[in-house]
Amino acid sequence: MFGLFRKKPVSFSELNINADYHCHLLPGVDDGVQLFDESVSILRLMQQQGYKTVHLTPHIDSDSNRGVDEPFLKGKFREFTAALPDDITLDISLAAEYMVNQDFEDRIDSAPLLCTENKEVLIEMSYYYASPNMDQAVFTLNMAGYNPVVAHPERYRYLVNNLSFFDKLRDMGCKFQLNLLSLSGVYGKSSMIILNYLLDGGYYDYVGTDTHTLNHFERIVGMQLDRKLVDRLRAHNLIKQ
Ligand SMILES: [Fe+2]
Repeated sequence: MFGLFRKKPVSFSELNINADYHCHLLPGVDDGVQLFDESVSILRLMQQQGYKTVHLTPHIDSDSNRGVDEPFLKGKFREFTAALPDDITLDISLAAEYMVNQDFEDRIDSAPLLCTENKEVLIEMSYYYASPNMDQAVFTLNMAGYNPVVAHPERYRYLVNNLSFFDKLRDMGCKFQLNLLSLSGVYGKSSMIILNYLLDGGYYDYVGTDTHTLNHFERIVGMQLDRKLVDRLRAHNLIKQ
């Protein structure tokens, strides 16, 4: 009977999100979308959902995505955007998602990184262990004039008993990007504990889909979210009023 008074869940399209900060839609360059037509289908669906801006953030990772560097991605981005059909009117830009591994700091020194207009660089760690050089990498980014943004911190479940890790990164100037699918609880209890800590503490600045396939984005579009959770996203300016 109490279910009668429970508030209706909120569908994804009601969230009014207009920018995707993180996705793998540049085809054939990483473990994301492989085919041009699939990328176009996802971009169309994003437009239908009200998106206006999309940052493409392919993986740059000397371990798992060897040979993919900034000049290669810039070339692929030019080809991709030139071939897009006219009905795609999104503002699409190229950044990257950098794995903080043993080679990352050398990369900061050797070439301009792919970043947003305000020099924000999206960085990630493994889903299994924290990068031993994370502090040093953030420091080096800062010294080089970049602004680090930590991708999907709620997915680093091994940090659930070490939440001060995020406090330290924030104190060092990091921003944080929430993966939308994490809101569904699909990554488990530890992920939700981290998410709640970061959301209520005002750590998150951006949301992203981290889309790797059409199916992945369709799962996000199909999400039904608890109204209280949506109110908290709104309170922290992660979605529009
Ligand atoms: Fe990603």
